[in-house]
Amino acid sequence: MSSNSVTAPGEEPQGRKVFIKTFGCQMNAYDSERMAEALAPLGYVETAAMADADIILLNTCHIRDKAAEKVYSELGRVREAKASRRQRNLDTLVAVAGCVAQAEGAEIIDRAPVVDLVIGPQSYQKLPQLIRSARSGRRPIVETEFPEDSKFADLPPRRAPQRASAFLTVQEGCNKFCTFCVVPYTRGSEFSRPVAEIETEARRLVEQGVREITLLGQNVNAYHGQGADGSAWTLARLIARLAKIDGLERLRYTTNHPRDMSEDLIAAHRDVPKLMPYLHLALQSGADRILAAMNRKHTAADYLRLVQRIRAARPDIALSTDIIVGFPGETEAEFEATLRVVEQVGFAQAFSFKYSPRPGTPAATMTGQIPPAVAAERLARLQAVLDAHQARFNRACIGRTLPVLFEKKGRRAGQLVGRSPYLQAVHAAANEAMIGRVLPVEIAGAGPNSLSGTVVAD
Ligand code: 5AD
Ligand code: SF4
Repeated sequence: MSSNSVTAPGEEPQGRKVFIKTFGCQMNAYDSERMAEALAPLGYVETAAMADADIILLNTCHIRDKAAEKVYSELGRVREAKASRRQRNLDTLVAVAGCVAQAEGAEIIDRAPVVDLVIGPQSYQKLPQLIRSARSGRRPIVETEFPEDSKFADLPPRRAPQRASAFLTVQEGCNKFCTFCVVPYTRGSEFSRPVAEIETEARRLVEQGVREITLLGQNVNAYHGQGADGSAWTLARLIARLAKIDGLERLRYTTNHPRDMSEDLIAAHRDVPKLMPYLHLALQSGADRILAAMNRKHTAADYLRLVQRIRAARPDIALSTDIIVGFPGETEAEFEATLRVVEQVGFAQAFSFKYSPRPGTPAATMTGQIPPAVAAERLARLQAVLDAHQARFNRACIGRTLPVLFEKKGRRAGQLVGRSPYLQAVHAAANEAMIGRVLPVEIAGAGPNSLSGTVVAD
């Protein structure tokens, strides 16, 4: 289907509103923007008020049980909003997109009959057409196919973004099948967008004022998109190409698997000045037996060696990670092995979770499920260490002058917020004209989650 076929004039009245709520990861944030863009030609503008919305769209996350449950409690609020709109003679179409849509399909409608349309992440190019069908038909629609073609080619071009920093999805899906993870089932197998398509999108973003692009993928360093010469390009090669775009000042990429951290990508952290010194590299566990049960295909020692190689290429790099505690069978000693690896690496930032059994994944039926209280206690101990490391990393920035890309107004008048190269939020007194510029900031203060300082002369 081409995007033109959905923009026939006069079919949908103008001035309609769509409310989009996004759960979960940055890839969902990117998808939500693209869905808003797909609806714009039909006359839909975004609203922040659910009560005003002709379409209520929830873009959902299925990664852990809590994330999925949040969707159902939100659907309770949606039901009330739809009922109160009906009293005002207003129609409301309720759509559930994202990974809960993919994983649960028609079950969502059984559990929440308020839903009119369930649409999986690989079908967003069909959104306008499906909305029309859902409006005209009496029965809800469930679309969770994995189509042959990429959704990206058929989505309309990017609109002018309002920000200095933008996401750009370059890769989707995952073939790794870690035993705890739903992603290979909800997002499907690995797919990389072609280089030319990504470059066009990146150039357009830069023309519209974007200064920093974060390349996204569930397994972004496994990127192998087709280049103009027909060969498969690595992520490092893609980064080198995008770094040539004038006006683009910063590149980042996330999220990574240690097994795909290739030599050329490590070298890019030494050789490409626009590539920011920040790397998210999921560890998950520091115990080899657990790593094997997770099907991570690396050991703790492999991870530590990799960190050494990365730091040899870029000594100041800020490392970030994901860790799961309470995976089935995890002993106290194995948990302590994780703490030891954490101590050895010293992460600048980390995301840590209690293991959450996901239906359909191998780990969900493994023996030795850990009692929630034990997992909670381990998580608290781990987070105390991670928080201390993050605070230490932030404090070490005091006295340094860091280039900061200013992105938006801060909470206080006369203050802007931007990002350091290490992805820390930085607050500084600055005027609005500085939004979208990279300026040197002398760091004077450090909190657990942000820095503050003063802009110094260019
Ligand atoms: N339980 C807990 N955490 C999980 N993650 C993925 N699946 C699960 C699960 N079933 C975490 C991993 C992953 C991050 C995005 O979410 O750490 O890297
Ligand atoms: Fe999930 Fe990441 Fe493992 Fe893929 S590599 S299965 S996305 S945790």
